[in-house]
Amino acid sequence: MRITIRDIQKMTADKVAIPMITAYDYTSAQIVDRAGIPMILVGDSMGMVVHGHSSTLPVTLDDIVRHAAAVVRGSTKALIVADLPFLTYATPEQAVGAAQRLMQQAGVQAVKLEGGAPIIPAVRRLTELGVPVMGHLGYTPQSENQIGIRVQGKQADDARQLIEDALALQAAGAFAVVLELVPAELAAAITDRLEIPTIGIGAGVGCAGQVQVWHDLLGLYGDKSPRHARRYAEIGSAIEAALKEYAGDVASHAFPTAANSAKMEPDALAQALADVKG
Ligand code: KIV
Repeated sequence: MRITIRDIQKMTADKVAIPMITAYDYTSAQIVDRAGIPMILVGDSMGMVVHGHSSTLPVTLDDIVRHAAAVVRGSTKALIVADLPFLTYATPEQAVGAAQRLMQQAGVQAVKLEGGAPIIPAVRRLTELGVPVMGHLGYTPQSENQIGIRVQGKQADDARQLIEDALALQAAGAFAVVLELVPAELAAAITDRLEIPTIGIGAGVGCAGQVQVWHDLLGLYGDKSPRHARRYAEIGSAIEAALKEYAGDVASHAFPTAANSAKMEPDALAQALADVKG
């Protein structure tokens, strides 16, 4: 049975911190499930870590639908949340169309939208229609051309706006809200004021849960990870070492061995060669 938003709400009420991680494919989703992580985000961070773009902006709804469908096929337990890509929810109607594709074609259980006041009508419409919505405030990567890549809410005015936006998302029916690159004291204050869980990334330990990008935690995306991430493994260098060993074994004919190869039926090759004309 998959985790539901009710289970997430219960974890919040019981003060059990909620871990969440991104995944973009079938195999990773299987690993997340085996690790017992209750929520997967099919994030538009795939634009950078999977597709090699410099931002999330080029990611399309087709991209997210395809990756999300693979993640759904790879998991049986985690609640799958998928990002609505840049400019696919400018109106409530557009948001409904995008969510319909993600829920019907990919099979996700919830969608995530970035922003505050301007997207409240879309959030309200989606939740009225039975679509679980996760909000996303603070640094919102789809707006990076407007706000820059920096911590949000350091000044009183910005902080007040963030608190109001978080409350508005909750009132519009969101079941959770991501707080990205928000000062820890502000994130804790927002968490205290909300009934729904805050899921932090670069927002301190006072959030109800934490979300991280797969590649940042596992040492798969360059030498440096963002300050808010901890590298729990060095999978990139482990893969590199394994591939070098593989290439060396091919060069020295140490791979494949007889154990890696199939055998013909007795005399079949001699017979086939005899039958070949010329
Ligand atoms: O796309 C993503 O991975 C995200 C997280 C950084 C929260 O939105």
